[in-house]
Amino acid sequence: MGEIIITGVSGQDGSYMVDYLLENTNHNIYGGVRRLSVKNHQNIKHINHPRFKLIDLDVTDPVNITGVIRNIKPDYFINLAANSFVGSSWEMPINHYQTNALAVLHQLEAIRQYCPSCRYYNAGSSEEFGDVQYSPQDEKHPLRPRSPYGAAKASARHLVKVYRESFDLYAVQGWLFNHESERRGEEFVTRKITKGIARIAHQLDLEKHMVGVVGGIKPLNLGNLDAKRDWSHAEDFVYGIWLMMNQNEPKDYVLSSNETHSVRDFVNAALEQAGISGEWTGKGINEKFVHNGKVLVEVNPQFYRPAEVELLLGDSTKARDELMWEPQNDFKTLVSRMYDNDKIKV
Ligand code: GDD
Repeated sequence: MGEIIITGVSGQDGSYMVDYLLENTNHNIYGGVRRLSVKNHQNIKHINHPRFKLIDLDVTDPVNITGVIRNIKPDYFINLAANSFVGSSWEMPINHYQTNALAVLHQLEAIRQYCPSCRYYNAGSSEEFGDVQYSPQDEKHPLRPRSPYGAAKASARHLVKVYRESFDLYAVQGWLFNHESERRGEEFVTRKITKGIARIAHQLDLEKHMVGVVGGIKPLNLGNLDAKRDWSHAEDFVYGIWLMMNQNEPKDYVLSSNETHSVRDFVNAALEQAGISGEWTGKGINEKFVHNGKVLVEVNPQFYRPAEVELLLGDSTKARDELMWEPQNDFKTLVSRMYDNDKIKV
């Protein structure tokens, strides 16, 4: 029985990682959470287990990180704490750099000094590929980030590699393409869509039953509908991370579905799941989805980014061949799981 520290445990990935490890290992898990005046433990409220303990951990505080690593001397350190919303990284670039890059350096340094046999994972991102040169993107694709978020993750990747090679640490950083779930934050486009379409479906239903909707139906506002992403279910990725941490040699891998879909495709899949028909009209900022003369979805330039990653499509062949990793949820299953979870029950 060993000790595992997971940072960012109340987030989507952290919570699925705890579920996976409690079920599939016998290790003790220390879940790091940032102290907040109002707790946000929604994603971990179902976890009540003698091998799981919450600890205060702020990854931007090196004193805190060093103290925790020195005291617990973990066998595994899984860094899932991040400022993960790309869209906010232009407004708070320093915060993104501190949380997503500098914090990684502090963790590596504390592990090097106090616990060099600890196996370390940092959450890397397909956003590091950014302005892509070829598709699909594999482990050899150059790092060409397009946002302060992507630049911070790319910087962390170099640090992980340098510490691995300089100090012989088992330190890895996966390239995880977009991964979503019923536990996804509402600022990300997938959850925004499934929640938004669920709200609209409910309002259409009320109208149909003559209950009426005061003020009409508020359309779902989105930014770039043409952006393409390689979306998977987060549940499939946490076990890929665990496989990456348990190889003979530390190596970085891409995890992806190997399919790409536009934001518009995601909206269409959610509409289909909700049983709402209609058509897209207009182009660019005038594009709309109309159902029985009602606008249900429209473009709002407020959600455009200063620089966009237009296309992401992963090639996870290496992980599938070497780790024997295989995702279980396809695109349609992902959308239907998320939509069904957000559907308003009456
Ligand atoms: N969030 C958001 N909101 N995105 C929108 C919207 C909107 O209203 N409309 C269009 N989009 C587009 C964005 O411009 C982007 O191209 C795409 O939808 C996906 O945006 P997000 O869901 O915010 O995710 P992301 O791709 O920027 O980043 C996610 O995936 C990365 C891996 O590639 C995050 O999970 C990152 O933390 C992760 O590293």
